[in-house]
Amino acid sequence: MKDTLALRGGTPVVPKQLHVRWPVITAEDKAAVGAALDSGIVSGPYAPQVKALEEEWARYCGVRHALATNSGTAALHTAVAAGGIGTGDQVITTAFTFLATALAVLQNNAVPVFVDIDPRTYNIDPDKIEERITARTRAIIPVHIHGCPADMDRILPVARKHRLLVIEDAAQAHGSTYKGKKVGGLGDMGIFSFQASKNLPAGEGGMFVTNREELKERANRFRMFGEDVRESDKQAFDPARPLDGVREYNSLMMGWMYRSNEMTAALVRSQLLRLDDSLAHTRRNAAYLTEHLAKIPGIRPPYIPPECTSGFYQYRLRLDPQAVGVTLPVKEFRLKLLAALGAEGVEVSLWQTVPVPGQTLFQERTGYGLGCPWRCPFGEEVTYDLDEYPETRKLLEDSLVIGSHSFPLFPQPAALMVKYVEAFQRVFANLDQVLA
Ligand SMILES: Cc1ncc(COP(=O)(O)O)c(C=O)c1O
Repeated sequence: MKDTLALRGGTPVVPKQLHVRWPVITAEDKAAVGAALDSGIVSGPYAPQVKALEEEWARYCGVRHALATNSGTAALHTAVAAGGIGTGDQVITTAFTFLATALAVLQNNAVPVFVDIDPRTYNIDPDKIEERITARTRAIIPVHIHGCPADMDRILPVARKHRLLVIEDAAQAHGSTYKGKKVGGLGDMGIFSFQASKNLPAGEGGMFVTNREELKERANRFRMFGEDVRESDKQAFDPARPLDGVREYNSLMMGWMYRSNEMTAALVRSQLLRLDDSLAHTRRNAAYLTEHLAKIPGIRPPYIPPECTSGFYQYRLRLDPQAVGVTLPVKEFRLKLLAALGAEGVEVSLWQTVPVPGQTLFQERTGYGLGCPWRCPFGEEVTYDLDEYPETRKLLEDSLVIGSHSFPLFPQPAALMVKYVEAFQRVFANLDQVLA
């Protein structure tokens, strides 16, 4: 009997009601935020929830210092500034990331230089970094994309050789490990995001981490108007008068206002208690998908190197139409698959359509106006030719993500993964209907 795809009027494989919407907010989360509000302290440089979160996060990541910020982008900007990176400097990062990685560099008047990706891990290709280093390069920002750690043992020696700072963008990689160590503390500095789609979804928020005291001090200053927040001020903190203290009101350097607040910190602390369980569950979901989808010709599941664990912020697979005798360009094949899988009830999405240097901001290089920071003050121009990122471009044309921001893998039941695999099998067994 002919199996009719949902696209052609058949019954969808996946019951919609099996999906769990993200973020999941538990009764414990609500109680934690309520208790923070009940305390009457909502913010401040010594506010107890923020301080407790910073200590717990440092312990969780195995780093000496953690500073909470009001976004991951703020944490990145803080790291770039703490590294003393500014006008006339260049920073190397990957062409496949979220814009914020590069924006934080521009925000500090420095120029991002992009490197193509390793087609297996989707992370910066360590072999292509050195050719991008110039006399003006000051740092490398590897991004642990989708939660898969970048190859730090090949990146760190290049950085050491050229005396460059390494800032890990772990915005998507809470709890991911590289050779048994949590990401974030492997380089000089690291950052995380608590934006709503992440596996610690506190609305908006971020974290800066480092093992180096002097970088922590500079980051702390930058995070609060360029002012020093001293130990003596801390001793003067009185929970009965949380908004008053002995602040000097003297800014020592350019700074921003990037502090977090008590409600966000209380929510992250509550979510952190179940992060490891959530990661284990997500990894089981991903492992199930990988085991079964790898058997379908035309699908290449994501590759996580054996020395790494990923939190699968996104589960991105690649398509090979030729392997199933389809001669359509892969982008068109993908479009048809998205329609067929979507009709079966599978949550599928894309995320990013061009390499970051392909975005208008980089093509037009508007920045701060007058060509800054690209053309001032030293005149050596950095330009962004998309032909320099062939692997990133290929990935963005031949891949799709299972899950979406509202329905990622993290909270989905195992039964849904079974249905997803059935839907893929059905669609790939009936490609004539998909292509018709
Ligand atoms: C790789 C990467 N870096 C930085 C950020 C910025 O984090 P936020 O949205 O918290 O500012 C994100 C956010 O999605 C991200 O994915």
